[in-house]
Amino acid sequence: MRKNIVAGNWKMNNDLAATKTLISELIELKKTSNTEIMIAPTFVNLLEASKLLKETSIKVVSQNMHYAESGAFTGEISAKMLKAVGVNTVILGHSERREYFNEDDLILKEKADKALQESMEVIFCFGEQLDDRNSENHFKVVENQIKNALFHLPSSSWKSVILAYEPVWAIGTGQTASPEQAQEMHAYIRKLVAEHYNTSISEDVSILYGGSVKPENAEEIFGKLDVDGGLIGGAALDAKSFMAIINSF
Ligand code: PGA
Repeated sequence: MRKNIVAGNWKMNNDLAATKTLISELIELKKTSNTEIMIAPTFVNLLEASKLLKETSIKVVSQNMHYAESGAFTGEISAKMLKAVGVNTVILGHSERREYFNEDDLILKEKADKALQESMEVIFCFGEQLDDRNSENHFKVVENQIKNALFHLPSSSWKSVILAYEPVWAIGTGQTASPEQAQEMHAYIRKLVAEHYNTSISEDVSILYGGSVKPENAEEIFGKLDVDGGLIGGAALDAKSFMAIINSF
């Protein structure tokens, strides 16, 4: 059975003090629900976040990791280092990583392999640029991103994979994909997974939507058949907005 998940990607926001404050607000506002909640603070605040959320069901997630075991990779963080501070889920392939840090399908394939080899869970992000959509290339672009980085995986790995469709033109722009556009792409992705693997895997994989999700539009987007939750940027930085989005299911 696939899960409903709402994950907050804090990006390069919130220092230690702000991290503590936002987490305590989330704990206070959190209601019992079947939706899995995740937050992704910056690397330096993961340990503190893990400690503060230890007794709760809110998962602490990393925004990135390196694919190597260890070694001369100045400024990078390994899977084992994340696990040592209580982080067992990692976001890979966010469009900002692809765009500003040149992460391509090959690097992301290696990162996904490493995370899964370390028994971590992967939130794999992908999505088309506006030009791709305008030229009606969006299905092909998304298909290639997923195929190139994930379709070599054995079936058994898919229980640890979460997909996140994030059209680049909708991230941080206030311009959300319509619920119909999200549903159309999510159904397409689920069909791809079914064709390459089987329907048991495709029906079980959670597919999140990301890109300007707000309390005002979450219910309609999450109401679509193949949308199993969201990856939230801006609106995850405010406890009330984030909780309102979570409570939209
Ligand atoms: P946004 O970001 O909600 O601010 O558009 C989404 C994301 O980058 O994951």
